Amino acid sequence: MDKRGTFGSRLAIVLATAGSAVGLGNIWRFPFMTGQNGGAAFILIYFACVLLLGIPGMVNEFIVGRHAQTNAARAYGSIGGKRWRAIGYLGILTSTIILGFYAVVAGWCLQYLYASIAGQLDGDPAYVVTYFKTFSSDALKPCLWGVGFVLITHLVVAQGVEKGIERASKLLMPLLLMLLLILVVASCLLPNALAGIEFLLKPDFSKVSSGVFLEALGQAFFSLSLGTACLCTYASYFKRDTNLLRSATQIALLDSAIAILAGLMIFPAAFSVGVQPDSGPSLIFITLPNVFREAFGAMPVVGYVISILFYALLVFAALTSTISMHEIGTAFFHEELHLPRRKAAWILTVVCSLIAIFCSLSVGAYSNLQLFGMSLLDFCDFLTAQLMLPAGAFLTSILMGWFANRQLVQGEFTNGGTLRATFFKAWFFSVRYIVPLCIALIFLHQFGLL
Ligand code: TRP
Repeated sequence: MDKRGTFGSRLAIVLATAGSAVGLGNIWRFPFMTGQNGGAAFILIYFACVLLLGIPGMVNEFIVGRHAQTNAARAYGSIGGKRWRAIGYLGILTSTIILGFYAVVAGWCLQYLYASIAGQLDGDPAYVVTYFKTFSSDALKPCLWGVGFVLITHLVVAQGVEKGIERASKLLMPLLLMLLLILVVASCLLPNALAGIEFLLKPDFSKVSSGVFLEALGQAFFSLSLGTACLCTYASYFKRDTNLLRSATQIALLDSAIAILAGLMIFPAAFSVGVQPDSGPSLIFITLPNVFREAFGAMPVVGYVISILFYALLVFAALTSTISMHEIGTAFFHEELHLPRRKAAWILTVVCSLIAIFCSLSVGAYSNLQLFGMSLLDFCDFLTAQLMLPAGAFLTSILMGWFANRQLVQGEFTNGGTLRATFFKAWFFSVRYIVPLCIALIFLHQFGLL
């Protein structure tokens, strides 16, 4: 078997893992979830989930992956014994389903990139809504874009970790951040933008329904790529001297900052042009074209260029995330079935493409493709973000807090004693008690048992 790659520099590690975290979860899912759950109050609960449960959970996965330096299933097995491999299998399944429906939305972004180059998005708010509806209900186009996105992911993953992921992240992530900042300013300067800012910053707890906690938890885990052994797989490429807690904290803060910026870009504009904040998955697609047109009305060329740049960067952010989801299964099949990397990658690509096609049809041409009253796409999103991710993180916490060898865990946390152990106790306490308890309580609450 060929030698496992490792990420080159310390910066590259944080960037690649941040690349996995930052994606449509921040720019597409966070705004629409916030819009559907009443704004600022949801964001507060989301933050609490990131800090209290997300960061400790990330360190969990980092420890498992870096200690074992192997694929997800084997890694969990090597920490806890054979039975615990189940967490790895669950993770591989979860990330495969996520990749399937995520590719559909990433495909929409590809279409919007194409449409903005072709100048098709220029029109009043009603036109923009119709444009999205017409496109997404087409039987063929969205499927082709979605499968195309899986194929692009395939190409990068088949190349291997070092060459594929690292190089691009260094340049494009900072560029995305800069462009977001420009668009936030542009959006906040639109007429009546204040209502949107207020919606984001003024909590209204009367809007907090019982489902909000699980939605916020699911959003936090989804956005941090937590609960599928994705971080574990990436950490298997980390170096021995990577400070795990510091990296987790940096990535979580960057990830949340980008989500908030995305909110500040979307809501002022949505309120300004009269798009409903709770429009659901279509929210950014029916809001953003308005920003590009209205905010840069005096300089249409600037609006044109910025919209192309934005969709290009959004596609890139989605790609660094899909790569990480694809890599989990590819590393597993490559190492466990002793298949060449390229062949292993094809297994994932075919399965995910099929899921993408059915999900895409379920929100367009075949809207009777439903499960439990949701379109197949919404169902996959619900199943993974709100059930499978929390379950994965819960089980990992139980393993690390109660069953793993404590010396081994402490050794990984402190890099063999070279880092001070100041935060070890607090982290360990939270992994042993707080994380499993909170997740269990939120579950029980959601299903009416509490
Ligand atoms: N975190 C990514 C985003 O916000 C999505 C993602 C990548 C993911 N890898 C994951 C979500 C693994 C869950 C599990 O877009």
